Amino acid sequence: MDKLIIEGPARLTGEVEIDGSKNAALPIMAATLLSDGKSVIKNVPLLSDVFTMIKILRSFNVRVSFSDGVLEIEPNGYKGYTALYKYVSTMRASICVLGPLLARLHHAKVSLPGGCIIGPRPINLHIKGIKALGADAKVEHGYLIAKTKGLRGASIYLGGAFGSSVLATANVMMAATLAKGKTIIEHAATEPEIVDLAEFLIKMGAKIKGERTHTIEIEGVKKLHGANHTVIPDRIEAGTYMVAACATRGDVTVKRAEIKHMGSLVDKLIQAGAVITNKSKGAIRVRASRRLKAIDVTTLPFPGFPTDLQAQIMALMSTAKGISIITEKIYPERFMHIGELNRMGAQISLEGESAIIQGAKSLSGAEVMASDLRASAALGIGALVAKGETQISRIYHLDRGYRDMEGKLSKLGAKIRRVRE
Ligand code: EPU
Repeated sequence: MDKLIIEGPARLTGEVEIDGSKNAALPIMAATLLSDGKSVIKNVPLLSDVFTMIKILRSFNVRVSFSDGVLEIEPNGYKGYTALYKYVSTMRASICVLGPLLARLHHAKVSLPGGCIIGPRPINLHIKGIKALGADAKVEHGYLIAKTKGLRGASIYLGGAFGSSVLATANVMMAATLAKGKTIIEHAATEPEIVDLAEFLIKMGAKIKGERTHTIEIEGVKKLHGANHTVIPDRIEAGTYMVAACATRGDVTVKRAEIKHMGSLVDKLIQAGAVITNKSKGAIRVRASRRLKAIDVTTLPFPGFPTDLQAQIMALMSTAKGISIITEKIYPERFMHIGELNRMGAQISLEGESAIIQGAKSLSGAEVMASDLRASAALGIGALVAKGETQISRIYHLDRGYRDMEGKLSKLGAKIRRVRE
């Protein structure tokens, strides 16, 4: 297992290019299963999650080639409908093949994902959605088995205990594209990744209205075709480098990013004392010349503050001036990074779904362990700030969502290396 070794403290300066969005690319790859035709998808990030989705598509006998960030996917006559446990257990986003398989083959068998370090991740809303469209669904031997004689449009309320669901919205929207008649999804997710998926589906010939709002209308069509598409920039990768720039009191320009997807983060960083300028299209400059002020943050569905940046902003608040409270409203148990940040000298305690952070003057390097993708990024930010050497183990989590983080941080002036063990 690889480790990252970071010698701090660092001050990040310069430019960093942002890759395509992982969470937009994965459902778009699944959506190609809705037609027989060839799709070409550009700006796809080279990440282990993308390779897992490629393996799933190939396990259905779909032809896939991937080079220079361009995916060519040709489902022509594929027959497989089983997403195996070995894939789903490493990547929960595998669930987004459910809707396309059901719509296209009228049969889907998808392994249930099982436990997750960031808390319970039920799929009841996915099941509610496909049942409303006329599928039978049952769980047998660890697999969700869904069948239909033909999907029919329906009105479906998809709100859950924690608000809207991104991938349940994606699954129902994809399934509904080939259903007979009209589907209305109420309390739909409005994340930019859902809008990107809808745009891809529209290019495939789907009739969709209201993406970007909580009410999405889909008029089913008989057939879809392959399409060409460029994936949106990864707002979470961009946000991670913006937070790292602030934590190290640096001056970083993130390039190929989309500021309109990052309003809540920009607002919070400015509130904490950072200077943010939208230099030119896609280029956002972030500067922090002194220690930032403590701020309170609550995660919420888009356009609220993203849960996928909660761990990173907590690492930033670990050395801010004052006390901040970070409340997690999407995954109330997503706090595994607290213990590891505290090993580096942070002073964070947990009260229910809120973390209380007493900003420390500095952190100190330590041996720490990554527990999930975004927690790994938070430890990286902590390590850049900390005095001395930090070793982060289990960085296979990081490789699921950040391409070449060590290369990008080195270019920004960090002393960082990967040790292969
Ligand atoms: N939920 C339910 N029932 C369901 C589905 C979800 O109660 O059937 C709950 C979840 O437990 C959670 C809330 O609804 O409390 C929102 O979860 P959501 O379904 O939106 O999460 P997801 O679609 O499974 C995507 C991202 C996650 C990101 C969340 C929230 C992808 C591939 N994954 O997951 O990304 O945290 O939305 O924004 O798009 C990551 O990239 O690190 C990551 C975990």
